Amino acid sequence: MSPAKEKAFYLTTPIYYVNDAPHIGHAYTTVAGDVLTRWHRQRGESVWFLTGTDEHGQKVMRTAAQNNTPPQDWVDRLVETAWKPNWRALNIANDDFIRTTEVRHTERVQRFLQGLKDSGHIYAGKYEGPYCVGCEEFKLDGDLIISNGEKLCPVHSKPVELVNENNWFFRLSEFAAPLLARYRENPEACQPESARNEVISFLEGTVQDLSISRSTFDWGIPVPWDTDQVVYVWFDALLNYATAVGLGDEPTSEGGKKFAQTWPADVHLVGKDILRFHAVIWPAMLMAAGLPVPKKVFAHGWLLVGGEKMSKSKLTGIAPSEITDHFGVDAFRYYFLRAIPFGSDGSFSWEDMSARYTSELANDFGNLASRLAAMVEKYCGGVLPLPSSDAELQTVLSSTVEKADASMCALDFQGGINAIMDFCKRVNGYVTEKEPWVLAKDPGKKAELEGVLYNTAESLRALAVLLNPVMPQTCEILWQSLGANESIGSINDQSISKVATWGQLPAGSIIQKSAVLFPRLEASE
Ligand code: ME8
Ligand code: MG
Repeated sequence: MSPAKEKAFYLTTPIYYVNDAPHIGHAYTTVAGDVLTRWHRQRGESVWFLTGTDEHGQKVMRTAAQNNTPPQDWVDRLVETAWKPNWRALNIANDDFIRTTEVRHTERVQRFLQGLKDSGHIYAGKYEGPYCVGCEEFKLDGDLIISNGEKLCPVHSKPVELVNENNWFFRLSEFAAPLLARYRENPEACQPESARNEVISFLEGTVQDLSISRSTFDWGIPVPWDTDQVVYVWFDALLNYATAVGLGDEPTSEGGKKFAQTWPADVHLVGKDILRFHAVIWPAMLMAAGLPVPKKVFAHGWLLVGGEKMSKSKLTGIAPSEITDHFGVDAFRYYFLRAIPFGSDGSFSWEDMSARYTSELANDFGNLASRLAAMVEKYCGGVLPLPSSDAELQTVLSSTVEKADASMCALDFQGGINAIMDFCKRVNGYVTEKEPWVLAKDPGKKAELEGVLYNTAESLRALAVLLNPVMPQTCEILWQSLGANESIGSINDQSISKVATWGQLPAGSIIQKSAVLFPRLEASE
């Protein structure tokens, strides 16, 4: 028997509705997940990163109908022509992509549901009340806003619909107390703090049982013991996180082994719009089934347009390509995590992005790399001189790595990136202070000149590794220009814990000028 593999760091994004193509809000979550999982891989951990699509329910069904397309054709087409290509274009390194119309999902959902029914967690009842198809959510009167005598969903600003159906209900109310205890005792379980407080106050109120089936349409997974009903789309969708890794499979089967290696999930990354589903309903479902609950739900803020959440339903979405065509993929990956504290709302601004691109990426980072290559070429024939060291740079690098690692692991992307970019500024300052171009004029200062160039190259080696999770294409180009593939191996194999070890680039490395890492922006229209 092969030895049991270590538990992977398992991170998920929401599975997005395929009522339309992705916009930068979806990309924000998925890029954040990609950066965090790449960071954990860079730490040498085993990682599993899941994303996917949520394909059932009324919202998707109605959009397909409006487009005169059968729902399965509609979702197949959008997934293949919009969602998957979009993630490839943004260099997302997910390990799996789950679609809720896949058999591996639907079968496991049915088995899970039957288990809850058999253990008495599900009963027949009648639901009467408002429903928002945009949210795919049963609402309470207190959740709604009244406008011109109409009850509107505050997220979608659209009228809710009245549902009156005989449904199957899940005994959600029974889990309010254990969930409350969990969130009170365990701040790590729901973040940021504002999200945790919201969940706690929700659980302190009256938590009602949840209708988990629908009888008036059929675009969903049939309830196994009552095939006139389909499973409520959120009950179906939340299970993706576990069905994708083998939920309920025999422990010795492939699925069972995968489950043992991944479950419980380490982080469910979500937007704050879907916090309650993830922090209340989902762990309750797992508790009912006797399964461990996820370690952390992190709810980030919204990208806003005119002060409101950017949204597919409101047609306010900006396609990622509108931004990447102008700034490139890596600047896109960098910008949102750098500019908006993770957990707060933020707006996209063309001006702010242009300013940061130029000052932080092109000037601070890109220029440092091209200056170093130019100087090594000019003063040392393109060959890296003997190793040297600089006590201050080394100390600053050590504390940079420590700070960046702690911040990134805590999902403080802004803090992590700032720490790394501060080091980049420090290295620029070092070059400016040492004035290698002046040293070069004095043959007696050759050793000093070479020392400055070596230390700058080593700093760039460290920057390449630290920024690799955020900007993998750019950092690979820099890595090649440092000749590092030949001397110390692939950039992905460099461990965060060793980045601060000085003197890794060997003397004699061939330093080559690369393409400009961040070209000057063309004047925008
Ligand atoms: O809710 N700002 O799917 P969805 C930031 N299918 N993030 C945003 C955003 C914005 N303006 N707009 C969307 C669903 N997002 C369900 C999820 S999970 C089991 C099922 C991101 O297509 C953010 O992550 O409406 C948000 O939570 C998610 O997309 C909602 O995507
Ligand atoms: Mg939504």
